[in-house]
Amino acid sequence: MAGQIPQRFIDDLLARTDVVDIVSERVKLKKTGRNHSGLCPFHQEKSPSFTVSADKQFYHCFGCGAHGNALRFLMEYDRLAFPEAVEQLAARLGLDVPREGQDDPHQQFRERKRKEGVNLLELAASFFRERMKMPEGRQARDYLDQRGLSPEVVREFGIGFAPAEWEALRHHLGEHGISEAVQIEYGLLVHREDSGRMYDRFRDRVMFPIRDIRGRTVAFGGRVLGDGKPKYLNSPETPVFHKGRELYGLYEARQAHSRLERVVIVEGYMDVVALAQFGIRNAVATLGTATTEDHLSRLFRVVDEVVFCFDGDRAGRQAADRALRTALPMMIDGRQARFLFLPEGEDPDTLVRREGADGFADRVTCASPLSEFLFEQAAQGRDLGHIEERERYASQVLDAIGQLPDGMLKSLLLTELSRRTGVDQSSFESIMLRHSGAAQQAPADSSQPLPAGEPLPAPNEAVGQGGSLGLMARALQLLVHEPGLVERLPDNDNWCALDQPDARLCYQVVRLLKAGGYRSAQVLLAHFHGTPEGERLAELARRQPLVPKEVRGAELENWVSYFQRHRQQRSPQDEYDALLARSRAGETLSQQERQRLSELLMELKG
Ligand code: UTP
Ligand code: MN
Repeated sequence: MAGQIPQRFIDDLLARTDVVDIVSERVKLKKTGRNHSGLCPFHQEKSPSFTVSADKQFYHCFGCGAHGNALRFLMEYDRLAFPEAVEQLAARLGLDVPREGQDDPHQQFRERKRKEGVNLLELAASFFRERMKMPEGRQARDYLDQRGLSPEVVREFGIGFAPAEWEALRHHLGEHGISEAVQIEYGLLVHREDSGRMYDRFRDRVMFPIRDIRGRTVAFGGRVLGDGKPKYLNSPETPVFHKGRELYGLYEARQAHSRLERVVIVEGYMDVVALAQFGIRNAVATLGTATTEDHLSRLFRVVDEVVFCFDGDRAGRQAADRALRTALPMMIDGRQARFLFLPEGEDPDTLVRREGADGFADRVTCASPLSEFLFEQAAQGRDLGHIEERERYASQVLDAIGQLPDGMLKSLLLTELSRRTGVDQSSFESIMLRHSGAAQQAPADSSQPLPAGEPLPAPNEAVGQGGSLGLMARALQLLVHEPGLVERLPDNDNWCALDQPDARLCYQVVRLLKAGGYRSAQVLLAHFHGTPEGERLAELARRQPLVPKEVRGAELENWVSYFQRHRQQRSPQDEYDALLARSRAGETLSQQERQRLSELLMELKG
């Protein structure tokens, strides 16, 4: 983990940055006397009350109270976390951000090792590329040509050739002052304990550099030119390379797209490169292992959708089953996984050559969504005409659904399962509750009751330590910590079930955030300052949300859909009373709410 950023560095950074520059890159400012002013980016206004002072190096809005220095501005405006804002300022000045503890000899050592490794592997990669251009690389060039790869694609993937010599690379690296010990450590040189011999690991092979997400070579895969064994030789695990984490082609895929939306996960190096040759530049390969959780979490950080590609045979089905199990717990709403089965005996390389890019793209388009695959897989080999078989089918699907994080997908799948089996959805819900340990899932604080209706399992993390926050409070807490999340909320605010604790405040906060463009907790707190609501908000602001930052948006959405579901289960009388109470309290109801009110009235009157 990176250490703290030294305060000294931050002070220095601020001293060398002009807040006026930072703001005026994002907001239109006019010079007015000693200050600059413009329309406040943090709330909606028609006449400028936002000023930036070059002398004092801060911005201030007389309208909404937004206030701070250059770092604060970047955090609020670009929605950056503090370290990211620091990185951004530092990058402007061409500085690297130092971290505390870098004086720590251990850390320094690790850092030096990492650099050393990366340099060495980079050096090896260019050695292999050079050798391919030379006469001895002829065979390798012919091989790649015969496999249909153009020089452009070969260059793009940095493919090279390891000569058929025992110590060519070792000598080359030696000339660059790299010790044998280091060459061994990074898997380029093999040391035989028995004979004491040392020789290059990769010889007479086409070399595929494996790059990390930032494009640094971290390992190699080498293919024999003919039918020799092993067909592919890979770097061993080293300080910079872990097979279960790296994905071949991910760097190249990101380079090829300004915004990568989906990746196709294939098996082999050649599949990735062949697809790229045909213009399909979003394939990545696991390196001879099954897709791991690490792989997926890496991928879901950069794309929302993955398509798994499998052989059509039995082994392929089994691999798909494993992939499904790995993917399930990661499927928060908004992410997608799909499953593509290739005809038997084909891999993406052979297939794209036979069917062309469009043919392959069509197959990707038609790949089964996870939801379908899950039912398909469970139905395989079962005669659903029999009750016992149906029971097993339902149990298998239910088991899979139980692995999903709470959210829309989970609810939808439960509904679908109930539709397909004819069993009432609430039965499945209670079975699932029992299996997952109802005690764990139920709200820890029973003094804050859930809305009426079926006790659905509470969304992820909605309960747990602390125990005293109700569900609505947790949603509110997320909003206080990250006001920008308001954008993930539906247009309609009627999910704030007003008969719940904190719901009224939540409703007010949502309205404020939506209307005013407030984007900071400070400003929100200031708005409620001196009131009981202000105290409640301050309390929520002091508590760190348990939900990790990356999934807060998704989590908030989960909660909202949870509230919406429960709202639907409320009795018309309750809903009517709540709306009426709000209207009587002097609140202006929206058009929709007024309409709902009259609908309810009609309903209640019979
Ligand atoms: P395949 O045997 O399916 O090879 O291995 P391929 O990708 O179709 O390769 P070509 O088309 O014959 O050149 C799939 C992947 O499994 C790993 C490699 O990552 C390979 O790309 N593998 C395979 C190895 O690591 N070692 C091997 O000996 C074979
Ligand atoms: Mn192949």
